[in-house]
Amino acid sequence: MFDKDKKTIFSGIQPSGEFTIGNYFGAIKNWVDLQGDYNCIYFIADMHSLTVPQVPADLRRRTFECSAMLLAAGVDPDKSLLFVQSHVSAHAELCWILNCNSYMGEMSRMTQYKDKSAKQGENIRVGLFDYPVLMAADILLYNSDLVPVGADQTQHVELARNIAERFNNNYSPTFTVPEGYIPESGARIMSLADPTRKMSKSDENANAYILMKDPRDVIISKFKKAVTDSGHEIVHDRENKPGISNLLEIYACVCGKSVKEAEADFATSSYADFKLAVGEAVADRLAPIQSEFDRLVKDKQYVMDILKDGSEKASAIAARVLDKVKRKVGYLQF
Ligand code: TRP
Repeated sequence: MFDKDKKTIFSGIQPSGEFTIGNYFGAIKNWVDLQGDYNCIYFIADMHSLTVPQVPADLRRRTFECSAMLLAAGVDPDKSLLFVQSHVSAHAELCWILNCNSYMGEMSRMTQYKDKSAKQGENIRVGLFDYPVLMAADILLYNSDLVPVGADQTQHVELARNIAERFNNNYSPTFTVPEGYIPESGARIMSLADPTRKMSKSDENANAYILMKDPRDVIISKFKKAVTDSGHEIVHDRENKPGISNLLEIYACVCGKSVKEAEADFATSSYADFKLAVGEAVADRLAPIQSEFDRLVKDKQYVMDILKDGSEKASAIAARVLDKVKRKVGYLQF
């Protein structure tokens, strides 16, 4: 499946809720577009999700549904490797070894940990602190060259680089030192209720986000309620018109147009007509993905077979790196 002359792209996503169009246009669509030009390895980071409280049955269901959604959105198992993190035990094993090669000081500087731990109150989980080391293990097991992530994860990729370099220096060259990768066409979709904040599925206001699974009428009604700005002109101006700008960007993304072209399409429209048109465009764009998702969810065995095959292939790649690491750190081997 993999071509020695191509670079390896590696990325993961947590099954922490239902995917929104922010996840789709910010990450998943890029994953799909990168297939072919790179050796692509994508995974569902269910072990990372345990760093915050989970209802076990929900985590299990979301891990399955997120897998089905990635397939429905176009991650192609004939081109890319797709697997679930907890199915490949090498992640946990390498994480331990890297824990013993990471420092409290560098870990304490992780801004996501500082933000998230502030919200966990008194009983902060050790896993939350260790999350970036597990992420480093994920990346380093696959000789990854490029790691596409959002801005909130670039510090973690930087840590993975530091850990890799340190290990290579302390033992001998072992890991490929990865680089973060910012796709040219990545979009940052903002909340429909507060366009100065990123769209997030954890928002208390369900009108703030569009889920990949939202039915057409729900999508259109959420867009009708989207916050706009004063005035009546439909122009892109992030500073003064964050609401309209966000809607223009969403429309441009969905239709594969430039923002300028999107502005031109609505030069004479009212806000109300514009919002309806954006809602319809998003619903049209999601419809085929949704029907493929519905089909896949009903064909559970088919999805599970893909994940099983993915976990076997991933385990084989990861085992080669892990064996090397085990030998270097001094584990007794048969
Ligand atoms: N931490 C990432 C996120 O929440 C998910 C993730 C886990 C990941 N391991 C990774 C992304 C390795 C890229 C590479 O978005």
